[in-house]
Amino acid sequence: MNKTEEMDELIQKYQYAKQMLETEIDIMIKEFSYKHHYNPVEHVKSRLKDERSIQEKLDRKHLAHTKKNIINEVEDVVGIRIVCSFLTDVYDIVGMLIQSKNILIKERKDYITNPKETGYSSYHLIVLVPIYLQNKIEYLPAEIQIRTVAMDFWASLDHKIQYKFNDDIPQEVKNKMYDYSLTIKELDKKMLSLNEIVEKYKKKL
Ligand code: GTP
Ligand code: MG
Repeated sequence: MNKTEEMDELIQKYQYAKQMLETEIDIMIKEFSYKHHYNPVEHVKSRLKDERSIQEKLDRKHLAHTKKNIINEVEDVVGIRIVCSFLTDVYDIVGMLIQSKNILIKERKDYITNPKETGYSSYHLIVLVPIYLQNKIEYLPAEIQIRTVAMDFWASLDHKIQYKFNDDIPQEVKNKMYDYSLTIKELDKKMLSLNEIVEKYKKKL
C-alpha cells in the first residue's frame, strides 16, 4: 500500500473513532439528563485534526511522519470538547466517562485543580476508542476536554491571542490573562454556590 492510501485509511479510522465517541457521549448525557431531570451540558464540539496540522505537530516534536508516530504521539487527532455550566457538572461528566465500559482511559489531566502556567483551566482525558474492524478491534486515542462556560470563554480568547501574536505574547497580555483566569475561577465558584441557593428555593416551592 502506498503512503497516501495508508494515510487515507488511517484518517477513515479516526473518523469512525470520532463518530463512536460522539455517540457514546450523546447517550451518556441523555441518560444522565433523564435520570436527574437536568442536563449538565451546554454544548459539545468535536473536530478531526487535518493532515497538515498532524504533520506540523510531528515536526514540532521532531518525529518522522509515520503511522506509528501519529497513533502514539498525536493524541488529539480526534478532539471533543464538552462545555458545562457548573464545576460540579464537569466532574460529573468526567466520572461518567471514566466509568464507561466502551472506552478506556489512557490519561487524566486535571488542569482545574492544577491550572497550566498560562492560567489555562480544563479537565482533559486521553481515551482509547475501539474501532470494530472485520476481524479485529483496534484502539485509537482521542482527547476530551471538559470545562465550564467561563473556562471556555477564557480559552477561546487565549487561543485568539496566541494566534494574533504568533505565540510571542507580550508579558503585559500574559499577566492580564493569568489574572483573569483567577477571576474566572472565582466566578465559577460564585455561580456554583448561587446555583445551590437557587436549588434550595426550588425544593421549598
Ligand atoms: P500539545 O500541547 O497538544 O502538544 O500536548 P500536551 O501534552 O502539552 O497537551 P496539553 O494537555 O498541554 O494540551 C492539549 C490541548 O489543551 C491544546 O491543544 C489546547 O487545545 C489546550 N490547551 C493547553 N494549554 C492551553 C493554553 O494555555 N491556552 C489555551 N487556549 N488552550 C490550551
Ligand atoms: Mg501543550
